[in-house]
Amino acid sequence: MKKRWKVTGRALLVLSLIVGVFLIYIQFSYRQKYDVPQTGIVASRDSAVIARGEYLVMGVGHCWNCHAPDGETNLQTGSRIGMSGGLPFKLPFGTVYSANITSDTLTGIGGYSDEMLARTLRYSVRHDNTALIPFMAYNGMSDADIRAVISYLRTIKPIRNQVPKTHLNMAGKIVARFVLKPVVADPPAPKAITRDTSIAYGKYLATAVGNCVSCHTNRDKNTGAFVGSKFAGGYQMKSKTGVFVTPNLTPDPKTGVIASWKPSDFVRRFRAGAVRPHTPMPWKSFQSLSENDLKALYYFLHSLEPVNNNQVNP
Ligand code: HEC
Ligand code: HEC
Repeated sequence: MKKRWKVTGRALLVLSLIVGVFLIYIQFSYRQKYDVPQTGIVASRDSAVIARGEYLVMGVGHCWNCHAPDGETNLQTGSRIGMSGGLPFKLPFGTVYSANITSDTLTGIGGYSDEMLARTLRYSVRHDNTALIPFMAYNGMSDADIRAVISYLRTIKPIRNQVPKTHLNMAGKIVARFVLKPVVADPPAPKAITRDTSIAYGKYLATAVGNCVSCHTNRDKNTGAFVGSKFAGGYQMKSKTGVFVTPNLTPDPKTGVIASWKPSDFVRRFRAGAVRPHTPMPWKSFQSLSENDLKALYYFLHSLEPVNNNQVNP
């Protein structure tokens, strides 16, 4: 009997040593750096490029919804508070704070090179080449549009605001060490894209810029992986007033919310902005979408295979 206890005790000791070594290993290695290709993207001072960047950042790309200090208020009131960051995202494995993306050199992106910023958008890595938790799905954004976004960011007035450091618990560090990787767009991002009302441009806006696909597809709560048909809705999102579920955007005659809409109805709906209070959909940003871009989105969504999936919000 005594001997057996001794053996078990020794086994436990060995086990805790192994766990201890593993945890120390994680602690020292979770900030893994990755080699990602150069993009060669350089900011421009051309006013047309900067204007395109502003449209993307404030409008369809909705960066300010996460990078302004009070995204919720911003979302509702449409005020243009500077993008000085600090919005907390509470996750099961830690708290992540959005970065200060004003041009402040100490606390913002003023000290980052164009290449660093371009890589963040193209490959989902930070300026120091560590992998980001995938909040930003702009990997398929064209070279020309990334250039426009960066060019606009360079013109934003600096705001000094030290954002708290991302805090990961041990599970988060394990995820950071083994799961998070740079993201490579598939299909590869185009150099530039024609901005007409084509299905191709609509698809680009819905998947590489406006991120419609990320919210309007059912996803696994823990991994974020798509588990439902793309654009068929069903993803549940918490907000101040309760849980929202994203509607089905495919043209299914019974369950697709926009199936019976004409292009003009779609444009009108976006001009109206948020109808349901505290909806997580960035309506305020999308209100400024051009008629051209809204039509492209509409034609793309109507080109999808209809999926029967009933998802209704109160
Ligand atoms: C859904 C929320 C969300 C949206 C939308 C968003 N961001 Fe972010 N962004 C974050 C979060 C959160 C972080 C910090 C993540 C971290 O450090 O782990 C971040 C970090 C960054 C960083 C800093 C990376 C570094 O080097 O530390 C840059 C630059 C950035 N975002 C630019 C943008 C731009 C440009 C857009 C719009 C095209 C945008 N973001 C849209 C949430 C968002
Ligand atoms: C951050 C998540 C999120 C993103 C990004 C998002 N949506 Fe939504 N969307 C929602 C939610 C939640 C609802 C349901 C609540 C509401 O109607 O506001 C919704 C509702 C809608 C509706 C139905 C409106 C109605 O009157 O019933 C349409 C149409 C729509 N989204 C289209 C889009 C398009 C197109 C994009 C991309 C340009 C997009 N959404 C991006 C979350 C999102």
